[in-house]
Amino acid sequence: SRPVLFVTRELPEKAQQRLENLTEEVEVRQHRSEEGLGRQQLLAEVRGAWGIICVLDDTVDAELVQAAGPQLRVVSTVSVGYDHVDTQALKTQGVLLGHTPGVLTDATADTTVLLALMAARRAKEALERAANGGSSGFSLTRGLGTQFGEQTLGIVGLGRIGSAVVSRLLPFGFTRVLYAAPRPQDKRAHALNAQHVSLETLLESSDLVCICCPLNPQTTGLFGSQAFARMRRSAILVNSARGAVVDHDALLDALDRRLIAHAALDVTVPEPLPAGHPLLTHPHCTVLPHIGSATEQTRAAMANLAIDNALDGIFARPLKAKVDL
Ligand code: GLV
Ligand code: GLV
Repeated sequence: SRPVLFVTRELPEKAQQRLENLTEEVEVRQHRSEEGLGRQQLLAEVRGAWGIICVLDDTVDAELVQAAGPQLRVVSTVSVGYDHVDTQALKTQGVLLGHTPGVLTDATADTTVLLALMAARRAKEALERAANGGSSGFSLTRGLGTQFGEQTLGIVGLGRIGSAVVSRLLPFGFTRVLYAAPRPQDKRAHALNAQHVSLETLLESSDLVCICCPLNPQTTGLFGSQAFARMRRSAILVNSARGAVVDHDALLDALDRRLIAHAALDVTVPEPLPAGHPLLTHPHCTVLPHIGSATEQTRAAMANLAIDNALDGIFARPLKAKVDL
């Protein structure tokens, strides 16, 4: 009998078609919905799977690996981030982990720039004024934003996405680029004329701070009350990485006390935020619903790579994009 590939979601159209044509190689079982499965149902449905294709809303831990059974060879997440995966549990059980780096770099960097510009030009307040119609048109004096010329850009995490963000933002006129990272990224930094500094220096010096690092124990809550106290009062914070890098209570407090000018978030905790959450209604906080990689092209590429990773894992071939566990 064919090995079972379990897929926790409906995939983007072309990848979905590919999945449906795999029937000679694998038996595809799928929760064909945009919504996730409940935990108990997920645990029941993965039983017998050799490969699992999942998304970042699915918690992959020892319990899930156990529920799948000893034949499980690979977990393939349709995301670059894998903070939802207990890598130690996979390693212990000899299960491989695939993810989707590279293919979403441009889309996610574009979203980061979108947020930076929305924040700088106070687009949230402007959209509300426009939506109200009436007398709220052109004003010489009200709702003025800022421009990036002559400013300092600070990037937390100079990986693929962080570098792509810098490339996109340099033409806006930043005169200095700083980055904080656990290790200097000499090659990337040299090409971008970016300077490796401590997080403290970055926070104190940057007009625009973009969070582009993975979520891990070192970055959880990295932006708390101490970080906000160091930032410039005119600073803009953009987070397109993972919500938990930012302490949301501390952020709200910083916005209320005007310790920073604006926060623009593509990611939050929880995700999505409940309706009426103070960060959603705050005039100086812009929130998008995790659309970093949400383009037709990128989602197709991510889903395809995830299928490749799953099949390679099931048939004991090297994965195209494997996480080192
Ligand atoms: C999205 O957030 C991803 O990790 O791909
Ligand atoms: C993500 O894949 C990154 O390296 O920035």
